[in-house]
Amino acid sequence: MAARWLFLGFMLLILVGKAETRLSVASSDLQFEKLNNEVITSHRDLAADFKEMYFKQILDHFNYNSLGNGTYDQRYLITDQYWKKGYGPIFFYTGNEGDIWEFALNSGFITELAAVQGALVIFAEHRYYGKSLPFGKDSFNIPEVGLLTVEQALADYALMITELKNELGAQTCPVIVFGGSYGGMLSVYMRIRYPNIVAGALAASAPILSTAGLGDSAQFFQDVTADFQKINPACRDAVKGAFQKLNTLAQQKDYSRIQSAFSLCKTPSTPKDIHQLNGLLRNAFTMLAMLDYPYSTHFMGSMPAFPVKVACETMLNGTDLMLALRDTVGIMYNSTGQLTCYDLYSLYVECADPTGCGLGFNSNAWDYQACTEIEMCFESNNVTDMFPAMTFTEQQREQYCLKRWRVLPRPGWLKTQFWGQDLSAASNIIFSNGDLDPWANGGIRKTLSPSLIAINIPEGAHHLDLRESNPADPESVIVARKKESEIIAQWVKAARKESS
Ligand SMILES: *[C@@H]1O[C@H](CO)[C@@H](O)[C@H](O)[C@H]1NC(C)=O
Ligand SMILES: *[C@@H]1O[C@H](CO)[C@@H](O)[C@H](O)[C@H]1NC(C)=O
Ligand SMILES: *[C@@H]1O[C@H](CO)[C@@H](O)[C@H](O)[C@H]1NC(C)=O
Ligand SMILES: *[C@@H]1O[C@H](CO)[C@@H](O)[C@H](O)[C@H]1NC(C)=O
Repeated sequence: MAARWLFLGFMLLILVGKAETRLSVASSDLQFEKLNNEVITSHRDLAADFKEMYFKQILDHFNYNSLGNGTYDQRYLITDQYWKKGYGPIFFYTGNEGDIWEFALNSGFITELAAVQGALVIFAEHRYYGKSLPFGKDSFNIPEVGLLTVEQALADYALMITELKNELGAQTCPVIVFGGSYGGMLSVYMRIRYPNIVAGALAASAPILSTAGLGDSAQFFQDVTADFQKINPACRDAVKGAFQKLNTLAQQKDYSRIQSAFSLCKTPSTPKDIHQLNGLLRNAFTMLAMLDYPYSTHFMGSMPAFPVKVACETMLNGTDLMLALRDTVGIMYNSTGQLTCYDLYSLYVECADPTGCGLGFNSNAWDYQACTEIEMCFESNNVTDMFPAMTFTEQQREQYCLKRWRVLPRPGWLKTQFWGQDLSAASNIIFSNGDLDPWANGGIRKTLSPSLIAINIPEGAHHLDLRESNPADPESVIVARKKESEIIAQWVKAARKESS
């Protein structure tokens, strides 16, 4: 799930926009930056005109003393271009582990819905990500990193919503929260923790069970494998066979053949290097499965349309399995076609999230979260999946986290704090999931009550429903969005009645 915003740099074209003073909360030169959506998607006819703003946020919501009682500048994006001023609802995206622009540019459904329902749209950046660094460059030092918790992030959003409503004359406007992946988890938590502020939540691809330590540790990589098997069982077998060949060479310590087969920049020389290579290879399949969208995308990397299908074609092309595997992971790592060799330790970094933390400073923040509240002890086992056996047990997690961050994870806390699967006291949450998404079965797949509604999208990958509509959309996501839109309209209507 972790943010791997590899290609953000060259995707974004920053234009200098006009200062907007009416909404200004905390000033910063960055608020003059504005993004030109047109360069990214030509067919976008509802290009949202987001303004980039900063909110003076409380550093520590739960302790008036220890790390100072100061504030930091929290970034958010806002557009009122569709808003029925003072009346229409507020659609609030609970930002997750990355730069908030990345989510805003890949969640066009929210603005499309705002246009129909007259909503104000806000995308809030999660503390410790993007430009919302509470202690600047020192944010990932110990103890400064300690204010990175789910609870602090939710309190940020609660306070931001409350104050912005006052400022904008939106006191009576119902608030609906939206989020994808970890952002979807935050949407669920917002609704159950702050029902006084939030009338309903659309949680897309939110693995609230698997990240709370509930479920089967083999599920994730089993479901990655299932995507490839579904295209063609021979595809799964070819991947398995390629890993087996690699394993045989590794046992023979034939490191130079491994280097040439996988075009590695340096000759591997230890079992640790081989472990790293296996991790890097497995990670590409994780990304291909998560991002198996029906059109090409630039989200967490660059992917062709139907990347799993493309991967299987590549995997089954030619007779040398290891070369085929190299070219298959190249769909992800070598999407530019510019890579001359694979650098084992810079293309992939192992961390406390076996599905990957990505690269760059955002990956530090996610690693810390995976070492504290978010539990992801997922394993591959070469039995229920096509990957080499790679465990990540609670003991391995403890060892790693103690060394990296001087913290001991507290298994079970997320489940205690945010209810796990015992959601019967909750209401007004949509849990949407795509069957192609390896995160789906770590979330809520069955409707639990008339207001805790599961929407499953057979042809959907990771939160496809949040993306803007596209001519290549399968019928199932069109139906899902329609249903979501009807339910949200009902929530807004009911919230108005309650407050009047
Ligand atoms: C809290 O804020 C007050 C007023 O700005 C300041 O005088 C005090 O030193 C602060 N305390 C801490 C622990 O930062
Ligand atoms: C399959 O291999 C042929 C010949 O090397 C190549 O031209 C073609 O592009 C390959 N197709 C895929 C999907 O990799
Ligand atoms: C990356 O892609 C280009 C273009 O297809 C290819 O020539 C190059 O060998 C690839 N790099 C690696 C490391 O496989
Ligand atoms: C996976 O299991 C098979 C059957 O037990 C074995 O032959 C193969 O070497 C294993 N693959 C890896 C990569 O360990």
